[in-house]
Amino acid sequence: MSRWVHVNGDWLPEAAAKVSVFDRGFLFADGVYEVTSVLDGKLADFDGHAARLMRSLAALEMPAPCDRDRLLALHREAVARNDLTEGMVYLQVTRGAAERDFAWPEAPEPSVVLFTQARPLVEAPAAQRGLRVITVPDLRWGRRDIKTVQLLYPSMAKMQAKAAGCDDAWMVEAGHVTEGTSNNAWIIAGGRIVTRGLGTEILHGITRAAVLRLADEAGLAIEERAFTPEEAKVADEAFATAATIFVMPVVEIDGVRLGDGTPGPLTRRLRALYIDEMRRSAI
Ligand code: PDD
Repeated sequence: MSRWVHVNGDWLPEAAAKVSVFDRGFLFADGVYEVTSVLDGKLADFDGHAARLMRSLAALEMPAPCDRDRLLALHREAVARNDLTEGMVYLQVTRGAAERDFAWPEAPEPSVVLFTQARPLVEAPAAQRGLRVITVPDLRWGRRDIKTVQLLYPSMAKMQAKAAGCDDAWMVEAGHVTEGTSNNAWIIAGGRIVTRGLGTEILHGITRAAVLRLADEAGLAIEERAFTPEEAKVADEAFATAATIFVMPVVEIDGVRLGDGTPGPLTRRLRALYIDEMRRSAI
């Protein structure tokens, strides 16, 4: 079944949805994106994603193609046109088409693309068994707080994980875990929930922020600090967060099983809290 895809103001059947070969997103990965999950046909944490998009655009001195209200209308139209009840909306904004030149064009006309992907999120099969991850060196660029479409290294790391028979890779820099290929990394040790603090080394996850808030409201102990792979391997529990996986248990790191190798109780509790909160607040 063909989806309706938004390209620069038009809604097109997916086979007809095209951008220019001169688009700087295609030539230079000169673009940013957001992935917003859809639950019960509504957008989860839309305002967090819209705010981060604006932040990414500003960091690259790229003009915003529209305001938050127009963005919301586009997301809602993507959901409605595609009869989406559960899954995600992908939004990409690039600097648009220009003659190939390392310098940015002076008056860029951003390209805006939106499409949907249907996928079970609440009943995701991986949430039952948990993820097995490997660690790899973090060889990405230094501005990981900008959500750019420059995703080749995370893609290579994911392939390395698959080749090792695992689900994902946690990236390590200067002896500490930065994040997963497309998610933030967490451990639970001695009853404390630990995740890396914000900086340019990681993406400022919207799911991460919600989980920190919910954990705090539940009176759980939180530490925002870097942790080592060695610490993670002896942790009681571990998990990853992202719009596409919510709170996803991690049950094995570099072949070392955590606990009894099944999703831990606190992780399951945080996943349930997160899903309830998103169901309640989605718009
Ligand atoms: N990725 N870290 C990285 C490197 C990511 O790519 C993502 C999300 C996250 C989690 O961010 P959030 O909680 O806002 O989804 C952390 C999206 C889902 C993707 O690339 O598909």
